[in-house]
Amino acid sequence: MKKLTGILAFCLACVMLTAVNLGCTSQAENKNNTTNKSKGKDMKTLVAYFSRIDENYGVGYITKGNTEIIAEMIAKITSADLFHIETVTPYPKEYDACIDVAKKEVQSNARPEIKGDIEVEKYDVIYIGYPNWWSEPPMAVFTFIEKHNWQGKIVIPFCTHEGSGLGVTEQSIKKACKGATLRDGLAVQGNVAQNSRDKAEVAVNNWLKNIEK
Ligand SMILES: Cc1cc2nc3c(=O)[nH]c(=O)nc-3n(C[C@H](O)[C@H](O)[C@H](O)COP(=O)(O)O)c2cc1C
Repeated sequence: MKKLTGILAFCLACVMLTAVNLGCTSQAENKNNTTNKSKGKDMKTLVAYFSRIDENYGVGYITKGNTEIIAEMIAKITSADLFHIETVTPYPKEYDACIDVAKKEVQSNARPEIKGDIEVEKYDVIYIGYPNWWSEPPMAVFTFIEKHNWQGKIVIPFCTHEGSGLGVTEQSIKKACKGATLRDGLAVQGNVAQNSRDKAEVAVNNWLKNIEK
């Protein structure tokens, strides 16, 4: 009898332990779901980018901008909407003339007028892409940023460049997007984006995977 009671008590303990374990599992699952949501699974995502065609350093005359190529990759992988930041006044087609105009704009902290707009306020995560121009994003990126409220947004910068990487652009974007949380940016060489797209796509995928962790 004593032995039977012992067996019954053991079985009961097992049932209770299993029940407790099941409770823990579902709590853990709930926690994971919440974490996934906050890590972008259900988040409305925008890729806003500046990119210029015509003559550029190391790539000659191009019909699709280097940054645009990367922006489209990110949008495809993250199921994001795309917005192209374009100036009302186009930049010169020739590289040398363009760098002169851009230098003057950086020096005067200009805010070139841009075409159209998108309601950034509707999005949770905004990737902001641009070429490195004199170590900064083109000034039109700030025209775009200053039209919007960035409070509570997750902002993720990316750039293309020909040697300077992100430069000081991450700090500039952080300062401009007041109230936003910034994640680590990505820099892709323009020439790689334009002419070695598979290589660029690997870099984009690896970076995106690390952001999601
Ligand atoms: C006006 C201008 C300024 C640039 N300044 C830099 C620079 O300071 N450092 C750098 O690495 N690349 C610089 N570049 C090269 C661009 O960052 C690079 O070609 C980029 O991939 C262009 O992107 P896009 O085709 O999307 O416009 C400059 C290019 C232009 C047109």
